[in-house]
Amino acid sequence: AEYDLLVLNGLVVTHDNTVELDIAVKDGKIAKLSPRGVLNGGMAKKVIDAEGGMMMPGGVDAHVHLDEPALFGKGETADNYETGTRSAIAGGTTTLITFAPQRKTEPSLLAALAATHARAKGNCYSDYSFHLICSNAGPKAISEFAALRKAGVSSLKIYMTYEALQLKDSEILDVLFEARKQKIVTMIHAENGAIIDWTIKKLEEKKLFAPKYHVTSHPPVAEIEATYRAISLSGFIDVPILIVHVSSPAAAKHISDAQRKGLPVYAETCPQYLFLTRKDLDKPGFEGAKCVCSPPPREGEQDHEGIWRGLEDGTFTVLSSDHCPFLYDNTEIGKKSVISSEYPNGHFKYIPNGCPGVETRLSLTLSANRLQLQKFVEVTSTNAAKLYGLYPRKGALISGESDADLTIWYPEGMKEFELTNSMLHHNVDYTPYEGRTMKQWPRYTVLRGEVVWARDEGGLIGKKGYGEFLKRDVSSLAGCRSEEWDVENF
Ligand code: URP
Ligand code: ZN
Ligand code: ZN
Ligand code: ZN
Repeated sequence: AEYDLLVLNGLVVTHDNTVELDIAVKDGKIAKLSPRGVLNGGMAKKVIDAEGGMMMPGGVDAHVHLDEPALFGKGETADNYETGTRSAIAGGTTTLITFAPQRKTEPSLLAALAATHARAKGNCYSDYSFHLICSNAGPKAISEFAALRKAGVSSLKIYMTYEALQLKDSEILDVLFEARKQKIVTMIHAENGAIIDWTIKKLEEKKLFAPKYHVTSHPPVAEIEATYRAISLSGFIDVPILIVHVSSPAAAKHISDAQRKGLPVYAETCPQYLFLTRKDLDKPGFEGAKCVCSPPPREGEQDHEGIWRGLEDGTFTVLSSDHCPFLYDNTEIGKKSVISSEYPNGHFKYIPNGCPGVETRLSLTLSANRLQLQKFVEVTSTNAAKLYGLYPRKGALISGESDADLTIWYPEGMKEFELTNSMLHHNVDYTPYEGRTMKQWPRYTVLRGEVVWARDEGGLIGKKGYGEFLKRDVSSLAGCRSEEWDVENF
């Protein structure tokens, strides 16, 4: 046969177009996009009839924590590369960019990269790539940025909070300065660690330990101040940054102000900031622990509205999951230290920060029926590929250029259902979205021409080890604004 796969009769939705076309796949690539009637079933080994369906570029989730050791001293992530990437494809996401974490006691980033490669290799259902978490920004790490680029890593994440990870402002400047030279995008976790630690102390003095106090201990000002500081530091160096997991509309305002001035400031938000509030942490007993993440879910509808608007107006470049999986029922490392006679419902500060969500990201967002479809594709796939140097191999359906990664939806024939954790493919014992009404779920996920998820025909049919490591190039979004940077000019 001329082609390996044809997807016929559907509506193709990309970030810049919505059009009825048939798709032909050959050797894992998009070979042709063709008007109706040109391609026919006899021309391929396999045919999907997508009548009534929508074909989108496969989801790209650029913020996922898998198989990270106990970096925060609070237990290891529950998903490894096998279970995390399996969960991804079942939810329509074909590419993950996960983290390769460097410990503070480890001067080398390349060592952290090698260790993470070893954890991922041969275990992945989806394609994958790594951001380096730089928690030791000493001379050794800085000297390795060029080698990281050669190894296909064009982004780093740094933290302004968490004792085990936090960098001083001077270290942030060191990172940004070298990132500028090497054309690396720096992702910044923007929360003021001192404000958080101080507030935790105040809550402890009053013996307030319940999970809900996690929200109180991470006030909006911690996020707002750090966001503005991150923008200021990156503006000084003139280098692109991405502020990760933004939850506060007031922080988003600093970001959009910077963008209006033309600064290369990009931002990310996550489903938890669209669908959860502090009430989700205020549940009897330890239940609230399921929604502990940082920054925390905010007050309510007004905050959600602000974040949706930021997605619509382009303040947010990407919508990632920040899948950071911990077992609720982990008595070994989790609950044992979290719960004591002094705090029988747990102590918020010992609850590992993070929620699972790699599998639910696309369906939850699409089910909310809030974003225009092209905007949905842009923030859940295309922009992540552009920002992190994967475009147009990923995030697009361009013949001859893009991998044949597709998420295929059938919104019309879809019956609403209630989400339960038992449907999901991660290794976590809960979902923060238990019981939600879902209106959408991908019927097919296609990765490089192979059907890896078929909701009604076997479910997960991809193979462990099919996922490939993706070497990334420089960002294709706007970078620094001037060629030269000289300290004498200030
Ligand atoms: O609560 C969160 N977000 N945990 C994951 C770690 C991080 O900072 O992204
Ligand atoms: Zn973070
Ligand atoms: Zn809401
Ligand atoms: Zn994260």
